[in-house]
Formats: sequence, C-alpha cells, structure tokens
Amino acid sequence: MPVKSVTVRVPAKVNLQLSVGPKEADGYHNLVSVFQAISIFDDVTIKLAEPGAGLTISISGDQTHGVPADANNLAAKAVSLISKEYDLTVDAHIEIKKSIPVAGGMAGGSADAAATIVGIDYLYSLGMTRDEMSEIASQIGSDVPFMLSGGTAIGRGHGDQLTAALSRGTYHWVLALSTHGLSTPAVYAECDRLRAELEIVEPQTHEGLMQALLAADSAAVGAALVNDLQAAACSLRPALRLVLDVGQEYGALGAIVSGSGPTVAFLVADEEAGLDLAVALTSSGVVGSVARAYGPVAGAKVIS
Ligand code: C5P
Repeated sequence: MPVKSVTVRVPAKVNLQLSVGPKEADGYHNLVSVFQAISIFDDVTIKLAEPGAGLTISISGDQTHGVPADANNLAAKAVSLISKEYDLTVDAHIEIKKSIPVAGGMAGGSADAAATIVGIDYLYSLGMTRDEMSEIASQIGSDVPFMLSGGTAIGRGHGDQLTAALSRGTYHWVLALSTHGLSTPAVYAECDRLRAELEIVEPQTHEGLMQALLAADSAAVGAALVNDLQAAACSLRPALRLVLDVGQEYGALGAIVSGSGPTVAFLVADEEAGLDLAVALTSSGVVGSVARAYGPVAGAKVIS
C-alpha cells in the first residue's frame, strides 16, 4: 500500500555565533554562523489529496499569527521547487502545527520548508539524497539546509554551506519571546546602517566557542556567544536591551539575540537554573512569554 500521509517533526535553532561580513554585490552578506538545533518543534503533516486538488496549507498551534497559508509559505516554495526538479504534480494538503515562534530569529519558516522537503520525498518515494535535499533547501533560504541536519553546525557563505561542529554535552536554554516579530531583511539593513563608517572584515570561526563546545563547557560557551545582528535588532527594538540585562542579572551563563531576533536566548547551567530564570523573566514584566528548551537535537525527521 502506498503511504497517504506523513508527519515530519522539525526543530527550531539558535545561533551561538553569527558573524556578518560586508554586504556583497548580490545584497547578501558572507556569514559564519554556528547553529544549534533546540527542542521546540513544528510538526508538518502532508496528506495526499485527490488528483487535481493542487496544494493547500493550513496552520494550527499556539504560534500562527502572521504565517501565510498560501504560496508565500516556505513550505509551498519547497513543493514548487521539488515539483519542477522531479517533474512531479503534487496534490496534497499540508498542515503545519506551529510551536516555533514566528519571525523570531529561530528559523520557524525555514524549519517548515525543510520538513516539507523530507515529507514530500517520503510520500512520493523520490529517494532524494542528503545533498539533493540540501540543494533544494539552499534555494529556499539560508537557514533551510541546517534545519535538515540539525545538531550543531557551522554555516558559511550565505549561512547555507554547512560543516558539522564538534560539540559535546547538552545545553539548556531559556527563550524570551516577543509578541511581534522582526523582519530579517530590515535587521540586516539596520546592521549595514550602523556599521556604515566601519571597515568590516570577512568573518572567521570563533575558536574559543569551538573549544568550549568540544569541552562541553557551558560557562565558556555562554561567555563566547556572539551575534553581529544583535546591535541592529536592539536598535530596532530597544526593549530587547532590558530583556538581555534581566537575564544576565538572574545568573544566565550567556545571553544573545537569536539570529535576527527578537527572541532572546539565555544559556543556563541546568534545568533547575532554567526554571529559576524563566520565573524571574516572567515576573519581571519585560518579556511577553518564556519557553525552555535543550539542544542539540536532530533535524527534520519522519515521526509517523
Ligand atoms: O536567505 P534568507 O531568505 O533566509 O534571507 C533573508 C534575508 O536576510 C535576505 O533577503 C537578506 O536581506 C538577509 N541575508 C543576508 N545575508 C545572508 C543571509 C540573509 O543579507 N547571508
């Protein structure tokens, strides 16, 4: 019996390092991005529909505001690219059950696109290799290839040329979420504006961070967290500075705006410290809501 439905679970990411080079002629920036996949998940279910039905998308879950249920959804872009590449007509319904914050700097849209690639490959028995999936993924967005692999990885180029990072141990995170997202292009543009007078060099891997990951030294990882987009995100959303301060005050090992923000990620020593910090952040009144997670976890995978 051919399969008629598949559910793929895909994690969110935080950036442990995001170093941004000068703006290139194509409008993009060369990056060194160290990603860690963390335990907040979207579930993407793809069900085959009648021939001729085309593609429909619905969104459910606690994080749905502002997610397009049409061709603008990155899941639809994934289907369109695979259809072209594999000469496939897709008649299906995609249901995205979202828990990853929307426009939060945690790659929520990219995650759903990665899950869709894995799901379509499974449903239609395409037998895609990792490289073929990655090739499609990088055409959708810079973060999509990482959401296929998960774990901890270094992204170069636009952030999409991945190598695995040697990382040991489990890291515990507290995430301060915002009710309103930030636009990634707007944050990159603000970063360029803030750095207009500076000489920007090509980004390098942060060796201290690499050593700390290898040694499973959370305190050293916390001290090494770095994000060149942080100043830009704080410039567009000044309240983020307060959030960063509150977390530091309550004993986080490190605090960083994730990606282009506005989610702020705090690294903590263990689950108990995470619970304490979550309570402190909630009662401080400066954050909308708080989530806890651990990483690294695996990338997009079929769960049923
Ligand atoms: O590739 P993706 O669609 O995720 O990128 C979103 C936006 O982020 C781009 O339109 C661009 O403004 C910015 N970006 C960049 N340099 C990168 C990656 C993204 O300027 N390496």
